[in-house]
Amino acid sequence: MKTDLRKPEVGAMARRNTFFEDEKIEKKIDIKQLGRTLKYILPYKKILFLVSCMMLIAAVVSLLPPRLLKLIVDEVVVNKDYRELVLVGSGLVLLSAVEIISTFIQARSMGKMGLNIISRIRTDIFNILKQLSFEYFDNRPDGKIVVRVTEYINGLADFFSNYVMMFAIYIVKIVVVTVFMLSLSPVLTLIVFATVIPMLTIVFMLRSALRKMYTAHRFKNSNRTAFLVESIMGEQIVKNYNRIEINKNVYKQIHEESMNMWWTIVKRSRLNHPVVQIFWHAGTLCIYGVALAMILSGNDLITAGVVITFTTYMSSFQDPLSQISNIIQELAQVSSNLEQVFDTIDYPLDIKDKENAVTLKDVKGNVDFNDVTFAYEEGTNILEHFDLHVRQGETIALVGPTGAGKTTIINMLTRFYDVKDGSVAIDGIDVRDATIYSLRKEVGVLMQDPFIFKGTVLDNIRYGKWDATDEECIAAAKMIFADKFIQKLKGGYNHVLEERGSGLSAGEKQLISFARIVLKNPSVIILDEATSAIDTETELLIQQALDILLKGKTAFIVAHRLSTIRNADCILYISNKGIAEQGTHEELMAKKGLYYELAR
Ligand SMILES: Nc1ncnc2c1ncn2[C@@H]1O[C@H](COP(=O)(O)OP(=O)(O)OP(=O)(O)O)[C@@H](O)[C@H]1O
Ligand SMILES: [Mg+2]
Repeated sequence: MKTDLRKPEVGAMARRNTFFEDEKIEKKIDIKQLGRTLKYILPYKKILFLVSCMMLIAAVVSLLPPRLLKLIVDEVVVNKDYRELVLVGSGLVLLSAVEIISTFIQARSMGKMGLNIISRIRTDIFNILKQLSFEYFDNRPDGKIVVRVTEYINGLADFFSNYVMMFAIYIVKIVVVTVFMLSLSPVLTLIVFATVIPMLTIVFMLRSALRKMYTAHRFKNSNRTAFLVESIMGEQIVKNYNRIEINKNVYKQIHEESMNMWWTIVKRSRLNHPVVQIFWHAGTLCIYGVALAMILSGNDLITAGVVITFTTYMSSFQDPLSQISNIIQELAQVSSNLEQVFDTIDYPLDIKDKENAVTLKDVKGNVDFNDVTFAYEEGTNILEHFDLHVRQGETIALVGPTGAGKTTIINMLTRFYDVKDGSVAIDGIDVRDATIYSLRKEVGVLMQDPFIFKGTVLDNIRYGKWDATDEECIAAAKMIFADKFIQKLKGGYNHVLEERGSGLSAGEKQLISFARIVLKNPSVIILDEATSAIDTETELLIQQALDILLKGKTAFIVAHRLSTIRNADCILYISNKGIAEQGTHEELMAKKGLYYELAR
């Protein structure tokens, strides 16, 4: 029996999006709203003007040869005037040259413009991503974000550098050909349009069904990327828990869903071509019939030359027309890509600077939590009426059961999340009134698992103060006793570290992050201590480093090691949405309550 491994237990349906669930995008961007992209196109008005001129020239010029052909048929062949043949020949060469040059200039300019537009959208989405609150990242798997910034934007690149241009070129061509055809024979032109209008209507109808399919495919595709990214990030666990086979199976299922959707799209979009063909052939047949009837009935409006020229124009008409119908189909894909990309670009930035935000300067380090209530998700308060007042230079240790809300408390100080009620203030200034830049400059965080970037040890230490000299970085490392282990690395301070610091021990990573924060020199330090056991030697080193690091600064330490906790000025036992016990180590031990139990 084939079980569906991806589906969660009944009742355990995730509230946040996961790889086994399609995303929901409220705002639909359809062909009508493609105008949104104008914001990106308009800055290139000059190029557009140049391109339009070139397009027009190329279109007109490409249509003149059939006229000359008509001259040859009706004058040279009939009247045997060979002087005209020379003139017509040189005219043809000249026209070709003009067409080639103008097409070249236009293609080059459009290509460049497309590139610039995509680069703007790419920059925009990256900038937005860097400003989005953690909540955004909490709500969907990383893979679904990655795929928007990479794949879906790539899909747009084609649109801006090719299709926009092509679409415009083809429209211009069609208009110009129409003028030429009308001047030749209004009756035959009428027949052409009687064919084209119903044909385009059907193409449009097909597109709107395709549009929905593309969106569905995007969702399946995102699911697949989400699972892929999750698997890569959890590689160690995947292997250790022998999930390779099971995961292959899951991947196969997700991949098949995406493939099937794609196949449906392919089948449907193949309909486009026959529709265009059927109408076109029918139209051509009508034209020959009418022309023949007119010639036979002795109507002198139509000569053999006119029919030949007209059919040549028709082939100049058919080409852009079938391209346009292809582009209309492509638009279905482009709209669903745009929808995904703009969903991120338009996401409301809830954690941002207020209009008159103040810059925190010369911060002393008094921190107040005033009656704070907080929930990550509506209806589940993690903290309620949390009150805490810390004076400059004090060290506060946060202890308590796992999941009690210790990390949550410090998350609000850096505005990783905003309070739902109450306020958090530094030196009396509500953190929401300060600029985020100055706030994060003044509040330094040492995470449970410090992130190490690919680069040298020096670059990693320099991360928060990009203009620090090598000497400053080395001094910082020496100050917190990281020098000894760094010297032992192959390249010393120039040793290249891997992404996420693979190749370093947990303690070593912490030491590098300590050196990083020494350089940053914030007024308030937050330390979310790692729970993992560190060998006694490193622990001693880290303890010494901490003493130096925290000297004279206000500090919040989520502590697991007794040595750190003992040295704190005040210990808070966090439990049950607030502070359950509060005092120094001695006071709390004497109380023989929760802390006493924990310490024992
Ligand atoms: N991003 C999040 N979205 C939703 N719920 C969250 C989020 N982060 C934490 N929580 C929940 O909030 C509660 C408090 O989490 P928090 O990380 O503050 O615990 P903690 O006291 O730091 O625990 P630990 O000692 O294990 O680090 C937990 O129940 C947790 O499940
Ligand atoms: Mg925590």
